[in-house]
Amino acid sequence: MSNQTQHRPEATQTASKKPVLPRDLEDEIRRLRKEMNAVILAHYYQDDDIQDIADFIGDSLDLSRRAAETDADVIVFCGVKFMAEVAKILSPQKTVLLPDMKAGCSLEDSCPPEAFRKFRAAHPDHIALSYINCSAEIKALSDIIVTSSCAEKILQQIPEDQPIIFAPDKYLGDYLNRKTGRDMLLWDGTCVVHEQFSERELVKLKTRHPEARIIAHPECPEPLLNHAEHIGSTSSLIRFVSGNNPSEFIVLTEPGIIHQMKKLAPESVFYDVPGTSDGACASCNVCPYMKLNTMEKLYQCMVNRAPEITMTEALRLAALKPLEKMLAMSA
Ligand code: 13P
Ligand code: SF4
Repeated sequence: MSNQTQHRPEATQTASKKPVLPRDLEDEIRRLRKEMNAVILAHYYQDDDIQDIADFIGDSLDLSRRAAETDADVIVFCGVKFMAEVAKILSPQKTVLLPDMKAGCSLEDSCPPEAFRKFRAAHPDHIALSYINCSAEIKALSDIIVTSSCAEKILQQIPEDQPIIFAPDKYLGDYLNRKTGRDMLLWDGTCVVHEQFSERELVKLKTRHPEARIIAHPECPEPLLNHAEHIGSTSSLIRFVSGNNPSEFIVLTEPGIIHQMKKLAPESVFYDVPGTSDGACASCNVCPYMKLNTMEKLYQCMVNRAPEITMTEALRLAALKPLEKMLAMSA
């Protein structure tokens, strides 16, 4: 990517007067959760303190399932916007809050609905399989949604001669094509975090720690995945680490995940891989969108019951169809 900072979001502007925060934020969040009958869902890329206070932590598929099943009145979603939208689509009667509405995703940004509509129209014989990392509008234009943990299983259920468009992550699509022998037509989108891992830094790390086992998220480009012993969703990477003997692991995904890995495999050692090593973007391995959420914003969104995810019922129903297919085909 030519301009490494182009996807970096700005935090939502706070009001000129700083809010007064309680001294014990965690106790207050717990109190509010009870008072509101809320459930706090968090993705593995959230800050450690957010993961620690959440009722449930998971990958995109786990979080979708949990959002569909919960009997809470309010879902406080500590993740990015497309994940909170999925919660709203699956649980429309619930209030869904996102601590920072600017917590987007570079994959979502890469796929504007009008361009995608035209792309689909140009390939009328193709069905559209879309990665969950996209807007509700793209979901509404898609036939089936997948996550990295269920994409292969879903692909196995689609006839081999059926042409498929895969959007928006070209690296995940490329990985799935290699893994399944398909020839899906790929949308040209990337994750700003996973595309910037440095192979040079990875090789340096492996040279310094030759016993370390390399594990990777399939949003990484092929040259990085070629080094990995295990490739999978965030939940799959955590299962791999906790299901193996204590070891050293080089982790090719957002380093927020290491918090749970350390809890589940306390005797193992984990190395995260830097982003670009030329100094242009020292912390490019950190998702700038996920990290917009903080404990302070989590508390404030519960106090204000905002920002809240809303959408028209027509959009929700259109986006629900391919999501329901995902849930049924991945069961
Ligand atoms: P998972 O579904 O593997 O948690 O991935 C979500 C994501 O955004 C990875 O960048
Ligand atoms: Fe999107 Fe990448 Fe952040 Fe995941 S890590 S939310 S794919 S920008």
